[in-house]
Amino acid sequence: MKSVLFSRFFILLPWILIVIIMLDVDTRRPAPPLTPRPYFSPYAVGRGGPRLSLRRAGPVRGAEKRNESRQQPQPQPQLPTIYAITPTYSRPVQKAELTRLANTFRQVAQLHWILVEDAAARSELVSRFLARAGLPSTHLHVPTPRRYKRPGLPRATEQRNAGLAWLRQRHQHQRAQPGVLFFADDDNTYSLELFQEMRTTRKVSVWPVGLVGGRRYERPLVENGKVVGWYTGWRADRPFAIDMAGFAVSLQVILSNPKAVFKRRGSQPGMQESDFLKQITTVEELEPKANNCTKVLVWHTRTEKVNLANEPKYHLDTVKIEV
Ligand code: UGA
Ligand code: MN
Repeated sequence: MKSVLFSRFFILLPWILIVIIMLDVDTRRPAPPLTPRPYFSPYAVGRGGPRLSLRRAGPVRGAEKRNESRQQPQPQPQLPTIYAITPTYSRPVQKAELTRLANTFRQVAQLHWILVEDAAARSELVSRFLARAGLPSTHLHVPTPRRYKRPGLPRATEQRNAGLAWLRQRHQHQRAQPGVLFFADDDNTYSLELFQEMRTTRKVSVWPVGLVGGRRYERPLVENGKVVGWYTGWRADRPFAIDMAGFAVSLQVILSNPKAVFKRRGSQPGMQESDFLKQITTVEELEPKANNCTKVLVWHTRTEKVNLANEPKYHLDTVKIEV
């Protein structure tokens, strides 16, 4: 009996060894990287423009006038610059919002961030943040007059206009370089593909926006490559029933319509986009992006107000920490 068992064992032994060796080899394969490579590279976009390295200009030390960053990447002649105008204001979630935004923008080639604080002066928090953001940027500020800081009134009118004024002034004396402007609120969520789409804007381009207007999305309706209407659940009578996150404008159009601005007078919430777009384009002229406006590449997310009920009034922390 014993000898039968022994002989079986020796017959099986080589096979067991082979299995053990194979398992060992498999577990020694290099582990996949923790951060998977993005499925889509924004660097290769735009008329065969050269790829940019992932690292952008390093941290900016010392602020110039208007705190423009000094270490801007070499201009790439073929790739139109994307100018993102972001109004922002001080609140507990501000730095978190700006961090999310910068993490997105840093991955986009040839993007210039125009951050406009709704404040009487540039804040230390935003200045420090931008200096370390590793992005070509311009830091502006303008306070919203107190009388306009009321619920129900449009927001960020003065800040967006400050961004437009800066752009016009910067390109005053030179022939306009190819560029595209869009309004990037600090709380929205932007896919990298969106920048690839907007970069080819000739005059004014449009696309769907997710989570807006009381619906999962709003979108321009497109027939034969032209916008013919709007899929929206809210004020369908708007001439351009589109959110601020749903369009981009070429720099050329901004420069050739020097008077086009966001207006306070007579403007209702939700009508800012229409009031502005009416000054520079017509519905027939709009260029549909995102596969004839059938893909959502930007979401009108809103961050909930944080609960700071347990924030102490006395016995504060022994160190001062910026949040
Ligand atoms: C909607 C639209 O998506 C906005 O583009 C539009 O400006 C806004 O309505 C409006 O009512 O005017 P919503 O999410 O309701 O957006 O607005 P917020 O995200 O609170 O504000 C839009 C932008 O203005 C943000 O970038 C925010 O940081 C900035 N903001 C807001 C200020 O600069 N100051 C403020 O007092 C409030
Ligand atoms: Mn918002």
